[in-house]
Amino acid sequence: MSDDLQKLKDDTMSAVAAAGDMAALEALRVSALGKKGTITGRMKALGGLDPDARKAAGQALNQLKGAVAEAIEARKAALAEAELEARLAEERVDVTLPARPDASGHIHPISQTLEELVAIFGEMGFTVAEGPDIEDDFHNFTALNIPEEHPARQMHDTFYLPQTPDGARKLLRTHTSPVQIRHMQQVPTPHRIVALGRTYRCDSDITHTPMFHQLEGLVVDEHTHMGHLKGCLIEFCRAYFEVDDVPVRFRPSFFPFTEPSAEVDIGCKRSGGRLKIGGGDDWLEILGCGMVHPKVLANCGIDAEEFQGFAFGLGVERIAMLKYGIPDTRTFFESDLRWLSHYGFAAGDVPSMTGGLAR
Ligand code: DAH
Repeated sequence: MSDDLQKLKDDTMSAVAAAGDMAALEALRVSALGKKGTITGRMKALGGLDPDARKAAGQALNQLKGAVAEAIEARKAALAEAELEARLAEERVDVTLPARPDASGHIHPISQTLEELVAIFGEMGFTVAEGPDIEDDFHNFTALNIPEEHPARQMHDTFYLPQTPDGARKLLRTHTSPVQIRHMQQVPTPHRIVALGRTYRCDSDITHTPMFHQLEGLVVDEHTHMGHLKGCLIEFCRAYFEVDDVPVRFRPSFFPFTEPSAEVDIGCKRSGGRLKIGGGDDWLEILGCGMVHPKVLANCGIDAEEFQGFAFGLGVERIAMLKYGIPDTRTFFESDLRWLSHYGFAAGDVPSMTGGLAR
């Protein structure tokens, strides 16, 4: 290789090695191997040489061209790799960092309470069942032993949908109890479920909103009795209100779908306009429960001679208001950001029995 060609090679190779980015490298490639590039120019000039000289010079030039192209490709790969490394380093996220303290979003108290309920009943071996918000008469009433002319139908202030051509009128479920029916119809006995969700009644005042949330519980097997019901709900009250010795009282009551039925009260103390859960000489009603009525089991095709169990239902807004001192149920659904930042919960605080329920 002539000195002159050697110099061209050395210069080009060191320029390739020094190219700091893709753009510089591409400019260099064009200036060496492009149409008007230095090496291309020399190739073109070969035509003017005599055949022997042309052959030798041509070989040397081809070699040079190959070597330069290879060096450019190698440099390109190295630059791409370095670029990727730099990007990865720059975009690295430390997943162990705590959530930003100034994060402005809050978990709604109803979402928080639903998660707390799932955590508590999940720990007791319940699974979560679901059912539709739009129900039919059979699941919402009839199967639950609430026949056509039963006063409970009026008490529920039902929202009905327009009548369909077949004469049926769907409705917005007035409680989560129809999920019991759907579950017993679809899944073989035994049962141990909770159902949480929206319910609807045409009612609005300080303690009622047209849409609200309930939790329904159902346990059915061969041996569950009233003692299990009491134990389960007493444990629930202690866990949910986070008061170990909260007094719990079972008061006889009536529901068409349970027999016997009871309402559960927890002990509380009122002083100076404040309510304290636990102790004291006052009582607060928090849920309804009872042994599943044999007719309800039969309506779901379950042999009431062989199986029995208990059910319970509670209002989620009500227990959230009691635990978190929220005075007016309507405020849950006004979407007021000031209210939410006052009563809401930090996004990263997932309730659990081991990590604590609230905050
Ligand atoms: N469904 C009842 C209501 O909305 C609540 C209820 C009471 C559910 C007793 C039950 C129960 O499962 O056993 O008022």
